[in-house]
Amino acid sequence: MRNYRGKRKDNPYESDLLVSQYCEFHYGDRYFGVENFPASCAHACLEMMAGQKTGAALDIGCAVGRTTFELARGFASVTGVDSSRQFIATATTMRETGRIAYDIPVEGELVARMERSLVDFDLDDVRCRVTFAQADALSLPSSLAGYDLVFAGNLIDRLKNPRLFLASLHQRINPGGLLVLTSPYTWLAEFTPRREWLGGFSAGGRDVSTLEGLKTALHPCFTMAREPCDIPFVIRETARKYQHSIAQLTVWVRGC
Ligand SMILES: C[S@@+](CC[C@H](N)C(=O)[O-])C[C@H]1O[C@@H](n2cnc3c(N)ncnc32)[C@H](O)[C@@H]1O
Repeated sequence: MRNYRGKRKDNPYESDLLVSQYCEFHYGDRYFGVENFPASCAHACLEMMAGQKTGAALDIGCAVGRTTFELARGFASVTGVDSSRQFIATATTMRETGRIAYDIPVEGELVARMERSLVDFDLDDVRCRVTFAQADALSLPSSLAGYDLVFAGNLIDRLKNPRLFLASLHQRINPGGLLVLTSPYTWLAEFTPRREWLGGFSAGGRDVSTLEGLKTALHPCFTMAREPCDIPFVIRETARKYQHSIAQLTVWVRGC
């Protein structure tokens, strides 16, 4: 154990604290019997692609990259993008060296040193099919197009303008291709101005759910391909404090 200082910058996803939290979330231990979330999401995506073309996939808001690597078990190429320079630097280190090291908070100033490698997950062979880049989901380069699958895990409720993001996706996905979203629908004004929330409010005396907001925002280019399902996840904060959340996974097929 060593002393640990979490430097928080303006973007929380640039802080050392969240880098270590997400390294453990993606590559670390399983807590309370809950399956690894990034791997479960990729597994669900690959199951849904059965019998379909699996050329290229895009993981938007990839954080430190586990889902991107997992998708490469089934896709010829996978690109992971995230706006956090620190997250992308960590994912890139994993891609280039096959291993990362990080400190996780234990209690107070105490930390534990962790080392994880792609070999531990039988993912070392997919490294050559994976690319990472820093990019803003709200202004992705036009070159990021032609995908058979786009995955955005727990991203929509962290964007300033989720409708703008959703409206841009038909330009990136091939006709018949899939869009897979997950989110715990944790709308917070510090990330998304209240007027931009997709759901989680009452309007005209009626409760509007995020699922309803997603259907509206994705119409007419995308239709829901199957019933939503729940994927739980646990993020470790310290040795004695954990966040246990439940994301809803929705699958959308591109029509027009
Ligand atoms: C809640 S985390 C989810 C990360 C990962 N998909 C997962 O499920 O573990 C949200 C991620 O979205 C990224 N993010 C937030 N705003 C973004 C934006 N405008 N463009 C790209 N990535 C963004 C954050 O840096 C962070 O990695």
